[in-house]
Amino acid sequence: MKKRVAIIGVTGSVGQEFVVSLKDHPWFEVTQIAASEKSAGKKYIDAIKDPASEITKWQVGGQIPEYIKNMMVRSVNEIKADELDLVFTSIESGAAREIEERFAKDVPVISTSSAFRYEEDVPILIPGINDEQADLIDTQRKNRKWKGFVAPLPNCTTTGLAITMKPLYEKYGAKRVLMTSMQAISGAGREPGVSAMDVTDNIIPYIPKEEQKVMIETAKILGKLKDGKIIPADIKVSCTCTRVPVLDGHTESVFVETSKPIDPKTAKASYEKYSKKISVTGLPSAPPDYYAVHDDPTRPQPRLEREVNDGMTTTIGRLETIDLFDNGIKYVLFSHNKKMGSAKGAVLLAEMLYKKGKI
Ligand SMILES: NC(=O)c1ccc[n+]([C@@H]2O[C@H](COP(=O)([O-])OP(=O)(O)OC[C@H]3O[C@@H](n4cnc5c(N)ncnc54)[C@H](OP(=O)(O)O)[C@@H]3O)[C@@H](O)[C@H]2O)c1
Repeated sequence: MKKRVAIIGVTGSVGQEFVVSLKDHPWFEVTQIAASEKSAGKKYIDAIKDPASEITKWQVGGQIPEYIKNMMVRSVNEIKADELDLVFTSIESGAAREIEERFAKDVPVISTSSAFRYEEDVPILIPGINDEQADLIDTQRKNRKWKGFVAPLPNCTTTGLAITMKPLYEKYGAKRVLMTSMQAISGAGREPGVSAMDVTDNIIPYIPKEEQKVMIETAKILGKLKDGKIIPADIKVSCTCTRVPVLDGHTESVFVETSKPIDPKTAKASYEKYSKKISVTGLPSAPPDYYAVHDDPTRPQPRLEREVNDGMTTTIGRLETIDLFDNGIKYVLFSHNKKMGSAKGAVLLAEMLYKKGKI
């Protein structure tokens, strides 16, 4: 028997990726879908059509999966929690706050929004990076007297940074990080999204609330769960987040100061070693390579990396020693914001929590 799942926000950028990530899934079956009142009551295929232009706003490559085309999009109020085992949400955080709480009282909720990320009894989980923090879910259930729970992913810009920082933090005591992101347009969602007029031939040097999220989330993810609380990692992050005219996938330039000596060769070896013992190996949505480390100084590039292992591999290049700190290294990373950074990463998280018996 497959677990019955709902996707809430199914028409949006991330929602469409959920539709693809859950197609023919061996453990999960999409049985209910919801979006805003604007889409409710329509077949999926009609709900993603722009009513004025009749253009279908399908943003994922390939065909719209057959299983979803004629499924009716419901309003959130019409979703029946007692007929579900799991809910995936991909809605903006204001709406998510009330909706996620409502469902979490009865059923596990895996969220791509920031609504609950900063609460004390809520872990921010990246499968393969901080799985042990999933035990905080038991505290959350007890505290709130919920049958379900809320388990959010990080912001999609944090994802690549935390994934690449993990071996450096553990092995070399990474303590200060400077990061500049070059974030894809799809990261801003479908509607209203980023205006073509604003972003074409341009770089926008500010993304509201993004930098604060990256700083807080990275320390929480790399922290330790102790006595029912997460003690944030002793790591300081400063970043500048920019929007660039790239469709999918975030690139980040990272400078790290470490406590112990580090060089490109040992850093590369650490990623390879960490990759080999990664906890998510063998799960249906896990990539065969968690990291791809390139010696070629022209990598990573969004166009070359975004299809690798269906966007689930984090790519690292330009690993170089720097003189700026006594000990430290710099690198450039690429992480797919809609795959590992949201929908498919959320499915991988559900798989990890299912294996741990939390779902
Ligand atoms: N885009 C990314 O790369 C990315 C990555 C990581 C995390 N996230 C997060 O994921 C969430 C969704 O982002 P997105 O980019 O997919 O946004 P989006 O493209 O704007 O899609 C928003 C979705 O939410 C639905 N919706 C809006 N208000 C609703 C309500 N009151 N009740 C139910 N559904 C409602 C919309 O339905 P209609 O079509 O009917 O309006 C649409 O399906 C956000 O919290 C975002 O921060 C996004």
